[in-house]
Amino acid sequence: MKYNFESNLNDNNKAIVIGVKEDFENDSNFEELDALFNGNFKSYIDAGVIQSKFKKIESSSAVLQTNVRKVYTVGLGKSEDLTQLKLQEAFGTVLQALKKDKVTDAYLYVDSFSSDDDFLYDVGLMGEISVYEPFNYKKDFKPYELTLSFNKEVNEDKLKEGQQAGEAMNFSRNLSEMPPNVLYPESLVELIEKEFSGKDNVTISVKDDKTLKEEGYGLLHSVGDGSERKPRLVTIEYKNSDKAPVALVGKGITYDSGGYSLKPRTGMVSMKYDMSGAANVLGMMKTLVDQKRAVNVVAVLALAENMVKGNANRPDDVVIAKNGLSVEITNTDAEGRLVLGDAVTEAITHKPVVIMDFATLTGAVIGALGESRTGLFTNQSRQYLEDVLKSSEKVGEKLWHLPMDESDEAAVKDTQVADILNSNLRPYGGASFAAAFINQFTEDYPWLHFDIAGTSQFAKQNAYGPKAASGVMIRTVVDYILDGSMYD
Ligand code: BES
Ligand code: MN
Ligand code: ZN
Repeated sequence: MKYNFESNLNDNNKAIVIGVKEDFENDSNFEELDALFNGNFKSYIDAGVIQSKFKKIESSSAVLQTNVRKVYTVGLGKSEDLTQLKLQEAFGTVLQALKKDKVTDAYLYVDSFSSDDDFLYDVGLMGEISVYEPFNYKKDFKPYELTLSFNKEVNEDKLKEGQQAGEAMNFSRNLSEMPPNVLYPESLVELIEKEFSGKDNVTISVKDDKTLKEEGYGLLHSVGDGSERKPRLVTIEYKNSDKAPVALVGKGITYDSGGYSLKPRTGMVSMKYDMSGAANVLGMMKTLVDQKRAVNVVAVLALAENMVKGNANRPDDVVIAKNGLSVEITNTDAEGRLVLGDAVTEAITHKPVVIMDFATLTGAVIGALGESRTGLFTNQSRQYLEDVLKSSEKVGEKLWHLPMDESDEAAVKDTQVADILNSNLRPYGGASFAAAFINQFTEDYPWLHFDIAGTSQFAKQNAYGPKAASGVMIRTVVDYILDGSMYD
């Protein structure tokens, strides 16, 4: 999104965007708006040309003073019911209508939505994410560009803050959308270095496959060794506070064929998204770094491609994790928990206040929660989750606490040849089993596990973006980290 702070509403005959409350007549700026419509605003409402029902979009032409102009309106419902999330939804929806009509220049009548400065954050955010265009290779692709102007002076800092958050989400979405022949561990490392190196308070370190083998990261190494494209373990530190770090761990399987426990042909399609956990951690880091937040965060990304090859791991293998646990591999398609085990061990070396991991981990979580809720597991009490659940509600990303207990731990230990096994091959409760597996590596550090298998992509277009990678949990976790309650 581009912004033009110079021109104002009356400058020319560009389209105008208006939010319409049921009780629009009570708006302090209504007279100004009505004057623009030559005193006819209510007639447009009475004729049904403009409607106030929440999220109802109308586009029409109107005589604004002396010019015929295009008018886009979005209903906001009753002003007393209006929340930040509803404003975001309405604004994102009207932007998508402008995009559909290929409108390239528009004025936003800011006060018709809200006279609160905070709304500018929502404008900046939704301006990036609602009209996001998935990374693609279409021959005739022309990116959509809209230049937005305002009817008054606006708080540019708030606007920029929202825009930065949106750009970070789109950065992560683009990584998820990239095809797996282009995006693999080594090429992802290059993109990470391009994005983060040289930024204030940021250090990046990368372990290649030789180092992983030498230093005993047996789980990540064994998964990644089945591919021509070798695995990497990436650590990004952003230290802009003296407190213990928050650790963010991401599953970065750049393609998940299943390995020798091969996926069926339909199950393999879309497995390029299996690095979305890592991509979304990168989006969280980018938000915090670009906004120069006073926090201490360390990101650990386990990057590998799960493929079939002569030396790929096979069901029945036993491998040794970095923390010394022996692991029986019963299913090579349960690779995410393997790479996360070693990544969590790495995160612990930073003595974090909390570890959060993000992973497209199980089909089972989709069965349990559908495609709009992220599954949340923890080794802490339910009370510990209150703050992160509050953040998720605040930003409108659904998050649901799922169980994990001793029975799952017992299942994880039910092997005769090793300390633990990666799959008990039973078709029930798979998300809890996977969580209990990762918990074998947390050493009692507070730990939250986000299973985003169902939510890493939007199943259909909504106000926050098209049917494509979602960048889920970036907004929730940034809010949670900035809230700082994990230090209480
Ligand atoms: N990446 C998949 C999980 C997944 C499935 C994500 C569908 C998004 C959509 C993961 O690596 C996997 O294959 N999990 C297996 C585990 C099983 C073999 C124990 C699953 O869920 O079927
Ligand atoms: Mn898999
Ligand atoms: Zn996977």
